Amino acid sequence: MNVASLQQEILKLKQEKDVCVLAHSYVAREICEIADFTGDSYKLSVDATKVSNKNILMCGVRFMAETCKILSPDKHVWLAQPFAGCEMADQMDREMISRVKKDYPDYTVVAYVNTTAELKTICDVCVTSSSAVKIVNNIENKNLLFIPDCNLGSFVAQQCPDKNIKLLSGCCPIHASVTAEDVKAAKEQYPDAELLVHPECKPEVCEQADYIGSTSGIMDYAVKSDKKEFIIGTEISIAEHLQYMCSDKTFHILSLKLICPNMKATTLMDVYNCLSGKGGEEILLSDETIRDAGKCIDEMIRLGE
Ligand code: 13P
Ligand code: SF4
Repeated sequence: MNVASLQQEILKLKQEKDVCVLAHSYVAREICEIADFTGDSYKLSVDATKVSNKNILMCGVRFMAETCKILSPDKHVWLAQPFAGCEMADQMDREMISRVKKDYPDYTVVAYVNTTAELKTICDVCVTSSSAVKIVNNIENKNLLFIPDCNLGSFVAQQCPDKNIKLLSGCCPIHASVTAEDVKAAKEQYPDAELLVHPECKPEVCEQADYIGSTSGIMDYAVKSDKKEFIIGTEISIAEHLQYMCSDKTFHILSLKLICPNMKATTLMDVYNCLSGKGGEEILLSDETIRDAGKCIDEMIRLGE
């Protein structure tokens, strides 16, 4: 079956089975084309709460599907590709953070949404890359323990100078692999281009950027900008989507290291197999996990509004 016929089959199955398909902007274009909603992790988690379908199919990584299940516990939530995890989310677990919390009893624990549902159960509030600065500013406590991403945490600390932010050493190995030398080389090659980066990049990269933002933030900025040429410092699919959206502009990839194998793991065939009952994984969480992790995500939505 070619891509177009597979997409037609998927659209039929989606309707027959009352499924809402969510696709993170890092997944392949042919999947985004059949999705009901696409966007960054914050947008998808809010979109998922508004749909009336009985079933949600997440094309992204596991923590995103878990977030949907926590927000919509009465729905069946599926992850199209069960092997799609997030290397950063797997770096810290509940036991480790429970120990760290003992050293910081007066700190509010702020968890990047790229964490497991289990870990969220002992955190106070979640943030995403697009909402982190606003939410941190809205937290009453001055003392914050920000986990797991030290690069996003450094960016937030810089934007929120009134807060005392303690960081741990987690990071996204994909974004953190980009160096100041990579930026220098890209800027030398494309001197007229603006550099747009995700805050999961190291501070040495962010400080050279013209714009720092989430995946949706980068896309909005590039679409609305009067500039014609950009270097994109996040997963390579964003440059690809932007090139389709804005044919009059030119998008370069900051580094070929910016390929997330987990985000690339989901294929159109996985989506088809999941909808046909031959693949995917239904996300099942205990009532206790949904209740406790839910508090942290509800707080994110409350403070992010
Ligand atoms: P966003 O919050 O920008 O969607 O990013 C999620 C992610 O995994 C980035 O690597
Ligand atoms: Fe996780 Fe990094 Fe992949 Fe995003 S790009 S899903 S943070 S490993």
